[in-house]
Amino acid sequence: MKWDNSFAVGIEAIDNQHKKIFEHLLAIENAVAKRDPWNILRFHLAQLTEYMKFHFAVEESLLEIVTYPDRANHGEAHARLLDQIVELEDQLKKKATGENLVAFFEDWFIRHVLSSDREYAAYVKEEFPALFGRRPA
Ligand SMILES: [Fe+2]
Ligand SMILES: [Fe+2]
Repeated sequence: MKWDNSFAVGIEAIDNQHKKIFEHLLAIENAVAKRDPWNILRFHLAQLTEYMKFHFAVEESLLEIVTYPDRANHGEAHARLLDQIVELEDQLKKKATGENLVAFFEDWFIRHVLSSDREYAAYVKEEFPALFGRRPA
């Protein structure tokens, strides 16, 4: 899974963070493909989770600052994912396979970026064109 410019929401700082998340996903994907041991997989998962927490905090702060109307739901979607990661990690400890993990993250992340993140980005660019409008992706 690689970053694709069609994933861009058009806010440079956010797009850069999304790219970084894809890099972490790629690291997990490679570890799974190489059948790396569980501790390696867990290391990459921890890195991804840490970075996602940071990214979610940035987005949620931005949405607070611009008083995005749907910010509560957006924050809840982030929180639910973080809860699911904990569950997923538990399952992985038992089964020690990473395939579901990669599919799960890719699916969640792409859907979230292409729908919810894109919606708030459109709002932010519309409401604050001087700050966020018209930048190359
Ligand atoms: Fe988000
Ligand atoms: Fe995001």
